[in-house]
Amino acid sequence: DQRKFFVGGNWKMNGNKASMDVIVSTLNEGGCNPNTEVVVSPPAPYLDYVRQKLDKRIGVAAQNCYKAEKGAFTGDISPQMIKDVGCEWVILGHSERRHVFGESNQLIGEKTAFALQSGVKIIPCVGEKIEEREAGKTEEVVFSQTKAIADNVKDWTNVVLAYEPVWAIGTGKTASPAQAQEIHAKLRKWLNDNVSPAVAKSVRILYGGSVSASNCRELAQQPDIDGFLVGGASLKPEFVQIINARS
Ligand code: G3H
Repeated sequence: DQRKFFVGGNWKMNGNKASMDVIVSTLNEGGCNPNTEVVVSPPAPYLDYVRQKLDKRIGVAAQNCYKAEKGAFTGDISPQMIKDVGCEWVILGHSERRHVFGESNQLIGEKTAFALQSGVKIIPCVGEKIEEREAGKTEEVVFSQTKAIADNVKDWTNVVLAYEPVWAIGTGKTASPAQAQEIHAKLRKWLNDNVSPAVAKSVRILYGGSVSASNCRELAQQPDIDGFLVGGASLKPEFVQIINARS
């Protein structure tokens, strides 16, 4: 398989040193399939702490960053800071950044360009809201979100795309394997037609939204699902079962 299975754990705004110690030791103890690329994403104050304690084979991602190296941007962090504490990745355009904090496609595009140019790998996220799906606008929404990202990527080696339907995030309502596969296949076709066939074949597309130990195996069998971006379940021991969904 050209696309190594990839599982990201987005801890969102949860946890403390004590709870992260538990997750980190579970991951360090092993039991994770070496054929899966694993990345966890702690809240910004813990990036350094987690990076220092976690096995180097596991990546660490910030949950967001700004589009400048430094300056008067109170409350934000830069890709250079992420790298300075030894982390490799950043999640961009997560649905909570888009819909709780009002980030636009334009801003997410600018962040995409700046993070990549700064040498930080990115996990950009796209996904439709329930009213958009019900209005038959899923493709229009996810393609325009993807275009805003793609227009800012020169080298796709450092990009792992995540499809997270907003209605499935934190709701316990997972997209069915068929629903997820349908959009993943359409996103891959979009990449084929708008970027290149080589990029479409090689870019990993993750599914996110209420992934759990009980639904991950069936989702992982879909041909265009190359891994997961996991929220709630990434804080629990079942995260290891999700990492091993294809074992
Ligand atoms: O980034 C992760 C997603 O937002 C999924 O969150 O697994 O808690 O639904 P969830």
